[in-house]
Amino acid sequence: MPRVLIVCSSTDGQTRKICERLRAALQGADHAVSLAMIEDQPAAPEGHALVVVGARIRYGRTDPRVIAYANRHADALNAMPSAYFSVNIVARKAGKDQPTTNPYVRKFLHAVAWRPRLMEVFAGRLDYPRYAAGDRLIIRFIMWLTNGPTAPDAVVEYTDWQRVDAFGATLNRVIAANG
Ligand SMILES: Cc1cc2nc3c(=O)[nH]c(=O)nc-3n(C[C@H](O)[C@H](O)[C@H](O)COP(=O)(O)O)c2cc1C
Repeated sequence: MPRVLIVCSSTDGQTRKICERLRAALQGADHAVSLAMIEDQPAAPEGHALVVVGARIRYGRTDPRVIAYANRHADALNAMPSAYFSVNIVARKAGKDQPTTNPYVRKFLHAVAWRPRLMEVFAGRLDYPRYAAGDRLIIRFIMWLTNGPTAPDAVVEYTDWQRVDAFGATLNRVIAANG
């Protein structure tokens, strides 16, 4: 049974929810899937048929531990089927919703020697009540600048789950093609 590793970086839970949805899609196709959070020292890529890295953006940054993982394992990742996706709020906007047009995906690729065979970007979730007061103020200001919701109790899930499912189907096809 092909083994799949999903490495996940999530602070407020949305990237984790996407990783779990992908895990279900891969398990449904009879793959043995491990989902490891970046803070839990994920396994090395070796021995897996596919590695998927999903990472959230906070204040313009990918968690440095994700960048370190990608660089530490770049040779192994580049030699096997691998996938990367970014989760951010800018991706809710047409024109920034593709891996080639989303600024954070491009920034990530500048920071790592890894060249994922597959890339995606998903819009995340806005959840003002959940954020610390300082973060809430800053994110509301950014949303005001970019014509997003500013009501302090706003909660909006921008993630397109059909697109997540389509990505899961693509991952399954990649494993089948390399199996
Ligand atoms: C403190 C904070 C900073 C954020 N900074 C950015 C940012 O710079 N750019 C962006 O597109 N989204 C930003 N976001 C939106 C997150 O990427 C989005 O909420 C995503 O769903 C977070 O993923 P997570 O729930 O897995 O942590 C920020 C969110 C928070 C709470």
